[in-house]
Amino acid sequence: MYKVLILGCGNIGALYDFDNDEILTHAKAFNQYKVDLYLFDIDENLVRKVANKYKAKVVPVIDNINFGDFDIISICTPTFTHKKYLEKALLNNVKVIICEKPISTDSDEIDHLINAYEKSNSKVIVNYFRRFQPAYLSLRNSIEEILKQEELTNISIRTQRGFINNSSHAFDLIQYLFNKPLELKNILVHNREKDHFDTDPTLSLQALWDEVNLSLQGLSNVYFSFFEIDVFFTHQRISIQNAGKDIFYYQSEDSFQFLKPLFKVESLNKTDCIKDYMQHVIEYSISLINESSNLEDNFLEAVKLNKSMLTILNNR
Ligand SMILES: NC(=O)c1ccc[n+]([C@@H]2O[C@H](COP(=O)([O-])OP(=O)(O)OC[C@H]3O[C@@H](n4cnc5c(N)ncnc54)[C@H](O)[C@@H]3O)[C@@H](O)[C@H]2O)c1
Repeated sequence: MYKVLILGCGNIGALYDFDNDEILTHAKAFNQYKVDLYLFDIDENLVRKVANKYKAKVVPVIDNINFGDFDIISICTPTFTHKKYLEKALLNNVKVIICEKPISTDSDEIDHLINAYEKSNSKVIVNYFRRFQPAYLSLRNSIEEILKQEELTNISIRTQRGFINNSSHAFDLIQYLFNKPLELKNILVHNREKDHFDTDPTLSLQALWDEVNLSLQGLSNVYFSFFEIDVFFTHQRISIQNAGKDIFYYQSEDSFQFLKPLFKVESLNKTDCIKDYMQHVIEYSISLINESSNLEDNFLEAVKLNKSMLTILNNR
């Protein structure tokens, strides 16, 4: 039985699904598997409440705990605490570490962690959860097929609530779907709004990804959750909507001079694509422990993206 430690029992650690039937947290997702579950949070009442629900053990003091005793550690604490826990887990070669995104908002910390990762045997999952959902693996395969026939021409992204905190979900998903790093050039930041986080404004920008036109509209002062991506190819558009729940396909046909207007291809549409999303993240992470699985972690990809986004943010 795998021994699992969750650090932080807040929203993503345990609370998002505390009173509903969805699986949106580390705690409930691990509870679906036969694991020996340990929890730590600086809020003693909260950790006890969560431990009662999942029949988990509470770690009273974290400093004396040997991280090497655990097979999997989930880091679900506020971002500024990730470095200290991740570094300790890497030093102790914990088999699989799941770290919440963003890893860090400090470039030096990221360099330090890359160094620690390279010396460690640990695999690290950074929880950009959409990339672990079956519907997105299937979309990635469809895009690979489309790119054999036609070109990617434009990417249009709408997000809210911080460039590093939330737009990074969109950038990560694009890297994943097109299977190549999102290295942007000719970047023109045309709006920055300090609406949700003091140190992470919501940015709007225009850039080129190779020759592809990419625009990010960071919706300012939007307090409802919003996440949409449209990718345009020569004859079609794929639209990711409702935070990634829905994927819609639109196609065009050749006409005499121009292409005809797009029409929705109902048979290809997918809904409920992020249902119980944490279950798939945890399933993937447990499979990573098995050395013979061909699965890979996403640490280096995520930290490189994290660093390049910090460079965009701090280049004024
Ligand atoms: N992947 C996603 O889509 C997603 C969604 C939400 C949050 N997050 C990320 O998860 C992290 C936590 O966010 P949240 O919304 O769950 O925050 P939260 O404030 O709801 O929960 C954080 C918990 O950590 C505890 N805590 C604080 N400092 C601690 C420490 N040093 N040691 C142990 N426990 C500590 C707090 O008491 C709290 O219960 C952030 O990095 C955030 O960006 C990711």
